[in-house]
Amino acid sequence: MSTPWQRTAEGANLLGPDGSLAVTIFEEITTLANRHGAINLGQGFPDEDGPAELGRIAQDAIANGNNQYAPGKGMPDLRAAVAEHQERFYGLTPDPETEIIITTGATEAIASAILSLTGPGDEVLTFEPFYDSYGAMIGLSGAKHTTAALLAPDFMPDLATLEDGFSPRTKMVIVNNPHNPTGAMFPVEVLSEVVRLAIKYDAVILTDEVYEHLTFGPRHIPVATLPGAADRTLTVSSAGKTFSFTGWKIGWLSGPARLVAAARTVKQFLTYSSGTPFQTAIAAGLRMDESFFTDAAATLRRKRDILSEGLRAAGLDVLPSQGTYFINADTAGLGITDATGLARRLPGLIGVAAIPVPVFCHPDGARRTRSLLRFAFCKKEELLEQAAGRLATLKDRM
Ligand SMILES: Cc1ncc(COP(=O)(O)O)c(C=O)c1O
Repeated sequence: MSTPWQRTAEGANLLGPDGSLAVTIFEEITTLANRHGAINLGQGFPDEDGPAELGRIAQDAIANGNNQYAPGKGMPDLRAAVAEHQERFYGLTPDPETEIIITTGATEAIASAILSLTGPGDEVLTFEPFYDSYGAMIGLSGAKHTTAALLAPDFMPDLATLEDGFSPRTKMVIVNNPHNPTGAMFPVEVLSEVVRLAIKYDAVILTDEVYEHLTFGPRHIPVATLPGAADRTLTVSSAGKTFSFTGWKIGWLSGPARLVAAARTVKQFLTYSSGTPFQTAIAAGLRMDESFFTDAAATLRRKRDILSEGLRAAGLDVLPSQGTYFINADTAGLGITDATGLARRLPGLIGVAAIPVPVFCHPDGARRTRSLLRFAFCKKEELLEQAAGRLATLKDRM
């Protein structure tokens, strides 16, 4: 399996799958959406801010002079709040001193873990489609990116062949649950098989659980809670998704002290420390009443349903989404097998923008997913209704 992310001959930049410098299709679609005044359901960020009280806490923190570097591993109060959150929701008890660091979004947690623990000669296994930053970071680390296919319509891996993705060189396996871009949530059988194989091949598990609270039925199962997992699992999460403050870029990484310490050696030189006044606010957010978390998921579920309805009315096959901001739709029923081409035309055609799923894949996976589009539904209900209306005109305009 090839990796689409490679160094240039000068070793300076990353090259994307088509050989161009790594300006992503996200930017291209956003530019097209802006040019056509389209409703942008491409990138996953909410169009409404999170709880006003958290905004006020951040403003107070700025007004009260909390504007200098936070400690490198994060403010003690936020590390304590992350530990309390892990215990309250999952019964996990990480030590805030040695087993948690605060990062600049989940992105930096992922980068720090991959860059500190893997390198040339190692393999890193992800499911495919995969969140794009894994591929880029594995490319930067110099490790080889191997994949295990998630199969539509429910985007589960084939457990009978999952072991084929592992080898004695597998240094890390990355799990993303709930899963972007598909909205799949992996049941305990899948997660346990990943853990079993990680133990067998002595691999670290990096689990990205940024959508842990944005689920529409199934209970979220943190990998670290499974038997045998805790000692080899680094868990990533982020305030961006849970609290609808994606621009604050506050994330965290937790796991055994030796792995967290390794990641910190890289985090230290990526950013050193992360947004001081926002850390204070997110500590309060993590301590909010349980109803905040369940209400946020229920609101998002309604949004998912509005968009699903619109996609169905457009003649698309809607694939199940059990969590995240995203839902996939299959364009094959409309006779379209090139979702990437369609994604480039959609903003001009009907004034809606979406992301083609093949961008989250290597070439083989891109062929498997070539008719799929990813739509984000973390937008105001009125906007989603409007998008649904526009989508309903798709068949007539093609
Ligand atoms: C699966 C996944 N991981 C990580 C991130 C990045 O999170 P953050 O904004 O906290 O860096 C995202 C954002 O879209 C995501 O979807």
